[in-house]
Parts: sequence; C-alpha cells; structure tokens
Amino acid sequence: MIVVLNLDTKLIGRKVVFLREVDSTNEYAKRIAPHEEEGTVVIAERQHSGKGRRGRYWASPEGGLWMSVILKPGRCESLTLLVFAAALAVTDTLEEFGIKGRIKWPNDVLVNGKKICGILTEGRIGDYVVVGVGLNVNNDVSNGLSRIATSMKTLKGSEISVLHVFRSLLRNFERWYNLYLSGKHEEVLRATKDRSAVLGREVRITDDVEIVGRAVDIGEDGALIVETPSGVRRVLYGDVSLRFV
Ligand code: ATP
Ligand code: BTN
Repeated sequence: MIVVLNLDTKLIGRKVVFLREVDSTNEYAKRIAPHEEEGTVVIAERQHSGKGRRGRYWASPEGGLWMSVILKPGRCESLTLLVFAAALAVTDTLEEFGIKGRIKWPNDVLVNGKKICGILTEGRIGDYVVVGVGLNVNNDVSNGLSRIATSMKTLKGSEISVLHVFRSLLRNFERWYNLYLSGKHEEVLRATKDRSAVLGREVRITDDVEIVGRAVDIGEDGALIVETPSGVRRVLYGDVSLRFV
C-alpha cells in the first residue's frame, strides 16, 4: 500500500518507518537510532508491548497514534524541556481539532481530567533521544481505561483522520523542537505553565518519599515547585508519580 504523507516539515519525519505491528515504537526506534539520522519517525498501527514510564503497560490497539521520533540534539541540557516541547505540540494539535488539552507535569496530556496522551522519552546521553508519543485518536478506550482515559473520537463524537493528526503533530513538534534547540527555553516554559493542569492544585508526589502540597511553579530545569507545610520542595522529573488530592 502506498500512503502519501505530504508532510510539511523539514526535519521531523524526513524519513518515516511505518509498521503494521511492533512491540513498541520506542524499542524499535532505540534499536535503529545509532545508525539513523535525526528526525526519523517510527509509527505503528498497533503495539503489542506498548509501554509507559516504569515499564507500565500502554494500551495501543488499532486506531491510535503510536509513534517515536529519533532526535540527536547533542549535549542535551534539559530533557524535561524536550518532553514539554512534545506535550506542547500535542496540545497545539488537539487545539486544531477543537480540543483543549492541559499538560499534567511531567509527561501527560489531559482533557477534562482524563488522559488522552502519554509521552515516554528514552535515550543515550550525547548519542540520541527517542521521544515516544501515544495519542488516543480513534482507538477504543471504553474497556478498563474509561475511568482514566479519553480519545479524540470520544470527544468529537466521530472518527478523525490519524494521518491528519500525524501531519499536524509533526509540524507542531518541529516548531517547538526548533525553539528548544535555539535556546528559547523561556518560551517553552511559559507555554507549559500556561497550559498546565497542575499549577495551583494540591498534589501528592510519590517517589522514595511522599510530598504533599500545592504545585506553585515550574523551574527553569523543568522541576515542579511544591509548597508543603514543611517548606518549598523542588521535584525533578524522573520516575516520580503525581496524583491530584
Ligand atoms: P504517574 O503519575 O503515576 O506516572 P501516569 O498516569 O502518568 O501516572 P504512567 O506510568 O506515566 O502513569 O502511564 C501509564 C499509565 O497510563 C498506566 O498505568 C495506565 O493506567 C494508563 N494507560 C495505559 N494505556 C493508556 C492509553 N492508551 N490511554 C490513556 N491511559 C493509558
Ligand atoms: C506514559 O504515560 O507513561 C507514557 C506512555 C507513552 C506511550 C507511547 S506510544 C508510542 C511509544 N511507544 C511506547 O511503547 N510508548 C510510547
């Protein structure tokens, strides 16, 4: 089958690897990354071992957008800001389809409190970064996930062209990635704060220790600043887990 992509990007997607089924586009992208040029995108119709952070299961049946972008930003100052750039691209794309998404620090996009997108960034420092984006477009989120997840189809009431969403996402990601590369971190941060689902809210963060307090800001390094009864705490992106309280 020939798919005409008509992408309007220069870097992101200059090569697209399209797969019917894969274990995980992030795993596939990591396997090829050492020999690939920057900008190659891996996209699959289904993932049978789609994963979230901490190796959690990510449901990836047909109808969703499951993709990973291979980037080679060189000495990567802040990986967290790169995750924000991807989340901003997702919210821009949702906006183009009339959907208002909010960024749940550090790596999710929510609509009306439900998860529509997750981002998983992996890589080898100084070598490559793989940015994996899972966006629920037309895939079924009714079984098991309905309490916590939503999809573009659920929100719009009809099927949406995954190709249109893909094209828009690459275009928006390229814009944010270029801003990030040119050191316009302030712009990335400001937009992330503007679209945050978290700032001003009471949160519980679990890592080795638990922090409960009000999320008040996001620092230059992407850390979440939380006011707690025992003082201000900076929470760095990592394997931390954030819940609203
Ligand atoms: P935390 O703050 O603890 O990290 P999270 O929701 O961000 O919470 P992740 O590990 O980042 O957790 O994401 C994986 C979670 O996403 C899984 O636990 C699962 O509940 C949920 N999930 C799995 N597949 C999907 C999907 N297609 N759409 C939305 N959510 C999903
Ligand atoms: C999360 O919320 O924890 C992140 C979920 C990331 C899912 C995407 S789907 C494309 C890429 N391949 C994977 O196996 N995971 C990411």
